[in-house]
Amino acid sequence: YKMRIIVEKDYQAMSKKAALMVASQITLRPNSNLGLATGGTPLAMYDKLIEMYKKDEIDFSEVQSFNLDEYCGLKDDHPNSYHYYMYNNFFNEINIKKENVHIPNGRAEDFEQECRNYERSIKKVRGIDLQILGIGSNGHIGFNEPAESLNVATEVVNLTDETIEANSRYFDSIDEVPKKAISMGMATILKADRIILLASGENKAEAIQKTVSGKISTEIPASLLQTHPEITILLDQEAASLI
Ligand code: GLP
Repeated sequence: YKMRIIVEKDYQAMSKKAALMVASQITLRPNSNLGLATGGTPLAMYDKLIEMYKKDEIDFSEVQSFNLDEYCGLKDDHPNSYHYYMYNNFFNEINIKKENVHIPNGRAEDFEQECRNYERSIKKVRGIDLQILGIGSNGHIGFNEPAESLNVATEVVNLTDETIEANSRYFDSIDEVPKKAISMGMATILKADRIILLASGENKAEAIQKTVSGKISTEIPASLLQTHPEITILLDQEAASLI
């Protein structure tokens, strides 16, 4: 397989292209199932999609969304939960229906059951049409952290020190960063019909280089994307600086 790699001049241009790709997916198929990501990287893409929605250029009324992951232990309205992130940065501004929004419940009483239910909810809608991904500086996707073995399906995962440290910038202190999360597994992600991986900035350049290297390793979970037949890697110049 050949990965499609697109390099835009900066973060805004990269985000605009990503938003246009999402919009064209929804235009072609109004009842699309979107896989969505959090983190700093997709924020401007969400802003641009909101702008397009406000100009009546996209309609989310039949779209279903599935988020990659959620921290364990944070309430939905905790400002660092991915629930809060999604509603605050995107869903509250568009016409997606609440019943069509799917985010793993990080406060479930029975995590195993929650993970199984989450997989089931994706299967029920015949899978994800377009999956948006960011990438951790250590090469993680969702919260599939570098390891000797990776999860196939949605499971509870332990975050690495590197990720806890990287994500502590969003929290008041590093002690407040949850140590566990629920994350889609590698097969959950790879089963999507199309994938767009977004990366911006110099601190992602090495992970991107390893992601497109031609070798696959569970130590760089994103490198498994090289097995996907329909993947676009959308970068700004800094993230592309080592390829
Ligand atoms: C987080 C998320 C990922 C995200 C990544 C990068 O931990 N679980 O889905 O892609 O880290 O985040 P950022 O875009 O803020 O660099």
